[in-house]
Amino acid sequence: MGSAKMSAVLEVRAMRADDVDTAEGLWDDAFEALRARFALPVIPRTATSVAQGCARLRHFLRTDPAGAFVAAVDDQLVGLALGLRRGDLFVLAQFAVAPAAQGQGVGRAVLHAAVAYGADLPRGMIICSRDPAAMRRYFTAGFDLHPSFAAYGAVRLDRLPATPGVRVGSPYDLGLVAAVDVEVRGAAHGDDITHALHSGATLLVHEDGGYVLIRERPMLLAARTDAIATELLAAAFAQWPAGTPIDMSWITAEQQWAIRLVLDAGLELIPHGPVALRGFARAPAPYLPNGAFG
Ligand SMILES: CC(C)(COP(=O)(O)OP(=O)(O)OC[C@H]1O[C@@H](n2cnc3c(N)ncnc32)[C@H](O)[C@@H]1OP(=O)(O)O)[C@@H](O)C(=O)NCCC(=O)NCCS
Repeated sequence: MGSAKMSAVLEVRAMRADDVDTAEGLWDDAFEALRARFALPVIPRTATSVAQGCARLRHFLRTDPAGAFVAAVDDQLVGLALGLRRGDLFVLAQFAVAPAAQGQGVGRAVLHAAVAYGADLPRGMIICSRDPAAMRRYFTAGFDLHPSFAAYGAVRLDRLPATPGVRVGSPYDLGLVAAVDVEVRGAAHGDDITHALHSGATLLVHEDGGYVLIRERPMLLAARTDAIATELLAAAFAQWPAGTPIDMSWITAEQQWAIRLVLDAGLELIPHGPVALRGFARAPAPYLPNGAFG
């Protein structure tokens, strides 16, 4: 986008259902450019990934229509930010600006609208990408940054611990999932879990209090103790095809149990984007967040 265009009026407005396809493309472009910039693993864009991206945007638009914003210049979408309210917790689910429009204040404007949607809530959570611009935006919006690692590599299946307490879950376990979420994160994920299950995620649960959602890789985990969390993550890793590299992000200092497991399993730890929190005494644990659901 040329500077002539950016001198045109920037409008921040509510996202509409007919924005979804363009917004998904914009979000994917922004992340593809980010991954290329930091030499992160390429995530191929496929018909399935596009459909999943659009379905997720529609889900957030349905649960939180008043938290979903786009930025437009001359009627062309250049940014998006989607905020969620889950109990007393604000979550920023998605935030991106088209690569050609970055660095000109679009992110600041659209993020301001989404964050205002949860400003009355006592706590907030944003799972941050590797982008230093995102880190600056979140910190200046009042969130503390908790540094984290990503784990990457092929899993040494022979080194995983036993997982006797883990079984496949079902919709009957959603009460257990919500109870553990409240205990560990202080707020249930509500319809986000159902959406993940409808979009192809598998649920594993531990009777003693814990769950992990898996869609190819582990995408969200909460448990009452480190021992339960370790069993759940090991069970999730055991489902991964042998020899294929896996990546899993947002392991904060509180998750030493996860650091032990991923190092034992032969994965490499790489500095990654932080977990951004406000109103928390400490980062939730044992907990591995989801990039969009918090
Ligand atoms: C993160 C993102 C949405 C920000 O949008 P944007 O329009 O570029 O944001 P703005 O121009 O309003 O602000 C960028 C800020 O980062 C700062 N910044 C840019 N590069 C930086 C760097 N390398 N180190 C530190 N700060 C940096 C800028 O100075 C600016 O801060 P300031 O306005 O206080 O000076 C956008 O860059 C993006 O889409 N990134 C890829 C997708 C992504 O990571 N999304 C976040 C998901 S958690």
